[in-house]
Amino acid sequence: STQRATQHLTPSSTQPRNLRDRARPRELPDGFWLGSATASYQIEGAVDADGRTPSIWDRFCRVPGAIAHGDTGDVACDHYRRVPTDVALMHELGLDSYRFSVAWPRVRPDGGAVNQAGLDFYRRLVDELLDHGIHPWVTLYHWDLPQALEDAGGWLNRDTAHRFVDYALATYDAIGDRVPVWTTLNEPWCSAFLGYTSGEHAPGRQEGAAGLVAAHHLMLAHGQATEALRATGTSSQLGVTLNFTVADPADPDSAADVDAARRIDGLHNRLFLEPLLRGAYPSDVLADTEALTFGGRGWQEVIREGDLVAIHQEVDVLGVNYYQGEAVTGTPTGDGGGPHPGPGGRPVFSAFPGCESISTVDRGLPTTDMGWTVQPEGLTRLLVRLQQYGLPLHVTENGAAYDDDVVEGRVHDRERTAYLEAHLGAVLDAVDAGADVRGFFYWSLLDNFEWAHGYRRRFGMVHVDYATQVRTPKDSALRYAEIARSRKL
Ligand code: NOJ
Repeated sequence: STQRATQHLTPSSTQPRNLRDRARPRELPDGFWLGSATASYQIEGAVDADGRTPSIWDRFCRVPGAIAHGDTGDVACDHYRRVPTDVALMHELGLDSYRFSVAWPRVRPDGGAVNQAGLDFYRRLVDELLDHGIHPWVTLYHWDLPQALEDAGGWLNRDTAHRFVDYALATYDAIGDRVPVWTTLNEPWCSAFLGYTSGEHAPGRQEGAAGLVAAHHLMLAHGQATEALRATGTSSQLGVTLNFTVADPADPDSAADVDAARRIDGLHNRLFLEPLLRGAYPSDVLADTEALTFGGRGWQEVIREGDLVAIHQEVDVLGVNYYQGEAVTGTPTGDGGGPHPGPGGRPVFSAFPGCESISTVDRGLPTTDMGWTVQPEGLTRLLVRLQQYGLPLHVTENGAAYDDDVVEGRVHDRERTAYLEAHLGAVLDAVDAGADVRGFFYWSLLDNFEWAHGYRRRFGMVHVDYATQVRTPKDSALRYAEIARSRKL
């Protein structure tokens, strides 16, 4: 049945050549981590506990119409009060690693002084994980900027990068030696462009090129924090997580489509990869965006001398988040679609020069509840491509939202199980092709607060009943546990 599901998810045009070999189980590479991921605002709740102050998401959730059904992260999965049982559940599922994020407004409320009570929560979490033999993987910034810092300009203010360094060091001071991997940012593309260009994420600003300015300051924050963490003499690995698209021209023989794919790849992938890992902005993206202004001046004026050196720090691991690829066309289709619509489907770059008429094309692939296409071979190609940067890779997120029901204590999430198997298989294909992939985190451990979509989009391998906070491992979790136990897919 595994093989049938995989075939179902793989379009014939992109079927891996070795599909017939799939009948025999494939071994996970030695030392490959198999875990799951979450983020603070999406699961913790307890937004007023122990000195925490509001983040931009607490505020954004109060904006009428910003979040589906008016949902908020006030309670979420109540994970803040359920760490012992949640970690025990991870252990039961056989997970050997867990990626979580630290909430900046717990550690430095309002972006100010260090709050030990907030840090104590993460000390307890790390204790619990280590007691269960689970490797902790920290993300420092998974989007919950203290609202007080947004009030001072947020990621459009260069000073936010300096504040991030102070926050990173305070967190490292508390749990550093016990956490083997530290990543600075999660998906800066989203923080920048969904936060400041399309406005579908907090802080909800729709200010065009402001997204590029935010991206620059986010990368500066990464660079300065990485430098400061490295200077502690840490033996932990340092890195960053980016979200990628795999943009193919809808018609490879059309110059307009090839150009559209280049632009989307540039704004989505290379805008971040190249400064972070090679110390330079991609010249085509700089040329394409040169005319865009921020605050009455060319946006590129925010790039100061020395910034690229500061951004380009040695990193030990690249976190790769992948959900879907896309086929893009530069020929106006008249359907009003924009390039790589954000999670809510709103176009993001439609106001950028040269992007006005780019849209994505329906390839007839299956989609998840997010409307995202299921394209596992895109993950293989992505990982193989990223290997050129010469770093170990780790899939820090991959997963799918489907509408699940609990029936007699079980959740038969056949589609999620197939998605998981197909994408893990795609990772193993990349390893076979020479990519150095060290592990995989399923997104997400629990159903949780899916940002602008609220609670109705369920990504968890464990179902959460929000009325009772009862956790029910879905069939996908049981399958994942079996893979973890047998080390075979
Ligand atoms: C990306 C984000 O990092 C995570 O917070 C989100 O829930 C998932 N992808 C699914 O959209």
